[in-house]
Amino acid sequence: MCGIVGIVGTKPVAGRLVDALRRLEYRGYDSAGVATIHDGVLDRRRAEGKLFNLEKRLDAEPLAGVTGIAHTRWATHGVPNETNAHPHFVEGVAVVHNGIIENFSELREELKAEGREFSTQTDTEVVAHLLAKYVRQGLDPRAAMLKMLNRVSGAYALVVMFQNDPDRLMAARSGPPLAIGFGAGEMFLGSDAIALAPFTNEITYLVDGDCAIVTRDNATILDFQGREVSRPRQISQATAYVVDKGNHRHFMEKEIYEQPEVISHALSQYVDFVSQKVRPVASEIDFAKVSSLAISACGTAYLAGLIGKYWFERYARLPVEIDVASEFRYREMPLLPTQAALFISQSGETADTLASLRYCKENGLKIGAVVNVRESTIARESDAVFPIMAGPEIGVASTKAFTCQLAVLASLAIGAGKARGTVSPEDEQALVRHLVEMPRIMARVLNIIQPQMESLSRELSKFNDVLYLGRGTSFPLAMEGALKLKEISYIHAEGYAAGELKHGPIALIDENMPVIVIAPYDRFFDKTVSNMQEVAARGGRIIFITDEAGAAASTLPTMATITLPNVDEIIAPMIFSLPIQLLAYHTAVFMGTDVDQPRNLAKSVTVE
Ligand code: M6R
Repeated sequence: MCGIVGIVGTKPVAGRLVDALRRLEYRGYDSAGVATIHDGVLDRRRAEGKLFNLEKRLDAEPLAGVTGIAHTRWATHGVPNETNAHPHFVEGVAVVHNGIIENFSELREELKAEGREFSTQTDTEVVAHLLAKYVRQGLDPRAAMLKMLNRVSGAYALVVMFQNDPDRLMAARSGPPLAIGFGAGEMFLGSDAIALAPFTNEITYLVDGDCAIVTRDNATILDFQGREVSRPRQISQATAYVVDKGNHRHFMEKEIYEQPEVISHALSQYVDFVSQKVRPVASEIDFAKVSSLAISACGTAYLAGLIGKYWFERYARLPVEIDVASEFRYREMPLLPTQAALFISQSGETADTLASLRYCKENGLKIGAVVNVRESTIARESDAVFPIMAGPEIGVASTKAFTCQLAVLASLAIGAGKARGTVSPEDEQALVRHLVEMPRIMARVLNIIQPQMESLSRELSKFNDVLYLGRGTSFPLAMEGALKLKEISYIHAEGYAAGELKHGPIALIDENMPVIVIAPYDRFFDKTVSNMQEVAARGGRIIFITDEAGAAASTLPTMATITLPNVDEIIAPMIFSLPIQLLAYHTAVFMGTDVDQPRNLAKSVTVE
C-alpha cells in the first residue's frame, strides 16, 4: 500500500524523505519517488521497484531543496513503472496520493475535452490537472486545493506542493490515514507515526474531510468548505508500530494484506526454505509414537483445527478427534495417555479452550499449543508451544491468525508424517516447496482479486442469507467463510459440506439465497460441480470460487466466478481464504458496519 511523506524543513530534505519512506516499506510498494522545490523550481526523481533504485537515482542526480514530498506506490491504476510513479507534476503542481479517486475517468474525460494531455495511466493525475487548472484560473493554492477536494470522490490521502508556494505543503484526507508531525522549526506529514518517528513524536492525525495547510512552524486544518477545525495533538507511543492501521481503513484490511509477510515468518520457524525440509518439532510431543491426536479450539481457530485434521489424517495417518472447546470440555471424552492434544488459540486466553486443555492435562496427555500470544496462559500451561508468528491481530474477525494457524498445522502434519514414515523424503520436499511458494502466491492473489471482491460485495450486501459449500478442506473453509461474513456484515450465512446439500439446506435454495461454492480443481471437484448443478436447477445463484483449471472445466452459469491460480492441495486452504476474507470485509465496509469491532463480539473470550 502506498506511503506518503512530506517535509517543510530548514535543511535538505531528499535524504530524509527517503529514510522516512523506508519506514513505510512494510506496506508493500512497487515504485517510489521524491520531489523538492529548489530556487523556485520543482524537480523529482522516481524509480520502479525498490527504494534502492530511487537512491541510486538520487546519488547520480541529487535533489536540493528544503521542502519536499515523497511516495511509495502500490499500483492500483496503471502498471508499476516510473511514468506512473508519484509525485505527479502538472504545470508547477506536485501531488502524491494514496487511495483511489473513484470519479477519475469522468474527470479525465472532462479535462481532456478542455485540451489537457495526460501522461500517466493513474487516477492521481486528475488531481494534479485540476489543481493546475484552478491555479491557471487565478486561484491561490488554498482555494485551488479546496475546489479540487470538492470535485474528487473516493478514498484518498493527498499531499500537494505548489511551485509558487515553496514554504507550504497542503494535505487532505478522506479515507487512508495521514498524520502531521510537529518538529522544531520544521513540520512533517506522513502516512503514519512510524514514518515520522525519527523526526518527532508530536502527532496530529487528520480525520476524514480534513484539509491541512502546513508551514515550517504550524499547521492549519480546514474542512473542505474552508472552515477552520481543531484536531488534538498527541504524543505517539513506542507501541505505534503494533497498533497502527497503517494506510488501511481497518485493522482487518491491514491484517488481510499482511498475510504474505507473516506467513513467511511463521513458515520460516517450521520449514527450511533452502533444503525444503520440515524443521524438527518440539521433542515434548513425539508424533511418531502418539496413538491419536485430540484437537480443540473455538471459532476460527476450531475451523483451522478442522482443516488440520484432514492433513494429520492424510499425511501422517494419525487419527484426530476434534471438537469445539465448549463441547469438548464437558463431553467426558475417554482419553488415553498415549494420545496427544493440540489447542489452537490466537489469544491463548480463550476460556473454553483453556478448560479443555486442563481436562486433557488431568488425563495425562502431552499438550501442544498453537498460539499467537506466546506469553498467554494456554502457552504457559502447555508442554510444547507452536507459535504462529502472526504479529498482533487487532481486528476481531480473525484473518492472518487463521492462515498462520493453517501454515503451522500443515508443517506439523508433514513433520508428523515424516516421523511416522508416511511422508517420504520426496513427498516432504514437494510439500514444503509448495508451502515456500505460498507467500508469493498470496501476494499475487491479493493483488488481482481485490477489485472483483469489492464489486461483488456490493451485490452480496443486497441479500439476507448466504450459503457456503465446500468439500474436503474446503468444507471447513466454507464454514470459515460463513463465519467471517456473519461476524462483520451481519448477513446470515451458513457453511455446509457440499455433500450435505441434499440432506436439508437444498430446501432453502431460491434466487434470494446466493450459494458460494469453494471448489479448487481437486479430487472432489466433479462431485462439487454436481452439487452446483443441483443449486442451478433450483434457480439458485452461484458465486464460484475456483482456480484456473476449475473455471475452464465448468460451464455452469454463475453470478460470479472468482478464479485463483492453480495451486497444490496442501496450500489451497490458505490461498482460498483470501477471497472469503475480502468478500466479508468489503461487504461489511459497504454496509457500514463496525468492521474491526463488530457488535457483541470480543477479540479474546475469557469467559465461558
Ligand atoms: O483467541 P482465540 O483464537 O482462542 O479465539 C477463538 C474465537 O473466539 C475466534 O476465532 C473468533 O471466532 C473470531 N472472532 C473469528 O473471527
